[in-house]
Amino acid sequence: RRVAALIPAAGSGQRMGSATPKPYLLLGRREILARTLEVFETCAAVHDVWVIASAEQQQHCRQGIVERYGFGKVRGVVAGGDERQASVWRGLQQLAPEVDLVVIHDGVRPFVSHALIEDAVEGAAQHGAAIAAVPLKDTIKRVSRQGQVEATVPRDRLWRIQTPQAFRRQLLQQAFEQAWQQRFVATDEAGLIEAYGHSVYVVQGSERNVKITTPDDLAMCERLIEREDH
Ligand code: C5P
Repeated sequence: RRVAALIPAAGSGQRMGSATPKPYLLLGRREILARTLEVFETCAAVHDVWVIASAEQQQHCRQGIVERYGFGKVRGVVAGGDERQASVWRGLQQLAPEVDLVVIHDGVRPFVSHALIEDAVEGAAQHGAAIAAVPLKDTIKRVSRQGQVEATVPRDRLWRIQTPQAFRRQLLQQAFEQAWQQRFVATDEAGLIEAYGHSVYVVQGSERNVKITTPDDLAMCERLIEREDH
């Protein structure tokens, strides 16, 4: 079994409203992306890592992150595309022929654990596609544009989807090819697998495994790591 990780980190980060793109912002003493890569570097289930950076940050990602921290599993830093799907596709093209499982993980989710990566990879080996998710805790209501509650949505079977998302390589490749032909765009890779008609299974993610999207997220994560770093 050979497992490759693709780490998309090529987003524009508009919601963060800072000049530095999100993955390169410091969380404590290290960049968010460096923290994420560290988890994959030290995860025995993963053999190769490919980072997908924006064209503008590609050089900085190589020198300022991968070389600076000495991430030996990183095989390369690829330039991403306009959409996440295009970014991941470019990473997929780089994989060595012998890779049979692919795990995709957001560069801005630094609190992923080895166990979660392993669970996703194991799930993919077994079912073809396995994604991290957590059951909803909040009550969910559908609300009209005027702000009036229309309905309470039963939440017992609703899950929030995270990454890692892991797949058999061939299945993922085929799902991407079909999506291109049909001009179908999904917000996560599993969406492509579902559209392709293959089942996807969830593995239990973690509330800690947050995606750092806004300044509030970053502030919350700063508090999370304060104990570890000092
Ligand atoms: O935009 P969103 O929050 O869904 O981004 C999730 C992840 O995908 C981030 O790590 C972001 O850097 C990455 N991404 C990418 N290429 C894009 C858009 C987003 O690699 N064109």
